[in-house]
Amino acid sequence: MVAGVLAVLIVAWLLLYHRTASTPTKSPSSSPQESSSVPPTSAPSTVPQPSPASPPGSGLNAQDQAASLTVVVNKGRILPSTYVPANLVVPDVALRLGSGSPDMHVRADTAVAMKQLFDRAAQSGLQLKLASGYRSYSTQKALYNGYVASSGQAYADASSARPGHSEHQTGLAADLEPASRNCEIQQCFGTTAEGKWLASNAYRYGFIIRYQEGKDKLTGYEYEPWHVRYIGTDLATKVYKSGKTLEQYFGMTTYADYPATNYQLR
Ligand code: DAL
Ligand code: ZN
Repeated sequence: MVAGVLAVLIVAWLLLYHRTASTPTKSPSSSPQESSSVPPTSAPSTVPQPSPASPPGSGLNAQDQAASLTVVVNKGRILPSTYVPANLVVPDVALRLGSGSPDMHVRADTAVAMKQLFDRAAQSGLQLKLASGYRSYSTQKALYNGYVASSGQAYADASSARPGHSEHQTGLAADLEPASRNCEIQQCFGTTAEGKWLASNAYRYGFIIRYQEGKDKLTGYEYEPWHVRYIGTDLATKVYKSGKTLEQYFGMTTYADYPATNYQLR
């Protein structure tokens, strides 16, 4: 009898825990820096396999699937507003905010690679910090609207993605900064020792600097030396060595501005 009740309680707890841990459900906040009810989780110790390519017969490319490691999100390609990565965890790295904040989560594969990146940087005497990782559709909406309100739409569109158009919603993107928070989310980050190291070494751990200097007409965004996108080491190495943007590397359309009609990712 007691054992039966205990078993029921354990199963209920497991179901509840899995549900809250995998789907942050905080309502939109005015700032992505606020904390939430998402419990901290640990990154897995082994590198998860990349998301599978298109299911056979689906007719979809990996670049078109929100959960794919190689999904391409930009001003012409929009994520479903309801899309939340299934495997968000808190990486075992220095965090700008408390581990309960949704922003301090990234996808599990990204978390493993990020720890390797941070550990290697530390071996070179450079301490990195995660400034912002996962952002929900609603958080991105609040962030973008905040930029529009404070600085106007042109500025907002050059520096912040509209909701559904941010890589942060995939859990594969992160904004990094020095532990000192010097040049936080500013272009001068690219001139810091940490920023220079990141630009030269991120690819070795599977990350690319997504919005390169002088490429704003191709990416649609000003230079963001702090914004990294995880795509896996093989592809990151190829993209880095090609000197191309991700879109150019895949031979895809580039978008400096928002088109009249978006391509809907799945
Ligand atoms: N700052 C990048 C473009 C974003 O908002 O996703
Ligand atoms: Zn970013």
